[in-house]
Amino acid sequence: MVHLTRHDLYAISRYDDVRAALMDWQTFSSARSVFVDPQMNAQLEGITLCSDPPEPTMLRSVLGQPLRPDRMRKLAPRIEAEAGRVVAELVGRGRFDVATELAEHLPMTVVSDLVGLGAGHRDRSSLGSSPTTTRSAGYRCPLARGALLYGAANRDPRKYPDPTRFDIARRPSDQLAFGHGEHACIGMNLARMEMSALLGHLADQVSRFEVIAFRPLINNGLRGLEHLDIRVR
Ligand code: HEM
Repeated sequence: MVHLTRHDLYAISRYDDVRAALMDWQTFSSARSVFVDPQMNAQLEGITLCSDPPEPTMLRSVLGQPLRPDRMRKLAPRIEAEAGRVVAELVGRGRFDVATELAEHLPMTVVSDLVGLGAGHRDRSSLGSSPTTTRSAGYRCPLARGALLYGAANRDPRKYPDPTRFDIARRPSDQLAFGHGEHACIGMNLARMEMSALLGHLADQVSRFEVIAFRPLINNGLRGLEHLDIRVR
């Protein structure tokens, strides 16, 4: 655990520690805030992410309805077709921005219409944060704010040897990019369906990818790229 003094935040970065914190909502409460930025916390008060059981269970069952596996199966052909269309168009151009033109396309168009949830949040990833509370004599007293670094946990060499190497044979089925426990992502099946449709079409149509330029997204809650300009052959 590292104390980030400027924000008075305790960052937890090892895989085992992040996973254990996600399983222990009594100590690591999400009820008061989950973002680093106080303004975001104020704006998003009351959403399912910023709550402790039993609320998330109720909210999740409502929110989860359109994302049920049987509904997902019905969406599959339309997602597959739209993925094929956008990949063919971009590959035909030979050069495009993966972040804005490829990754955002399905969530912004077909999926938000079909699921009726809006785009959800795209490219969520490495930093989930929650106020940390500690138990003492049967009541919980807020102690500190803690940030769970999902991106770091997923690259913890204690858990995944040589973690930054692209290893296509790796089977990281217990990775934490979709969270874990009470607040695990309810859109993960949809997200996986979209990603595998896009990657499947790219694998069929492209033999070589060249990165021309990229720019990381500056955001204290999400890890991702703002731009990724590539050329394909
Ligand atoms: C690659 C795409 C996605 C990633 C990496 C991702 C990641 C995550 C993560 C890490 C969390 C947990 C946050 C926490 O622990 O505090 C989460 C929660 C959530 N995600 Fe996603 N997500 C993705 C796509 C989606 C999609 C497509 C939807 C909906 C259509 C969605 C809906 C939600 C909701 C509603 C929650 C809150 C669940 C709760 O608080 O109980 N996500 N997501």
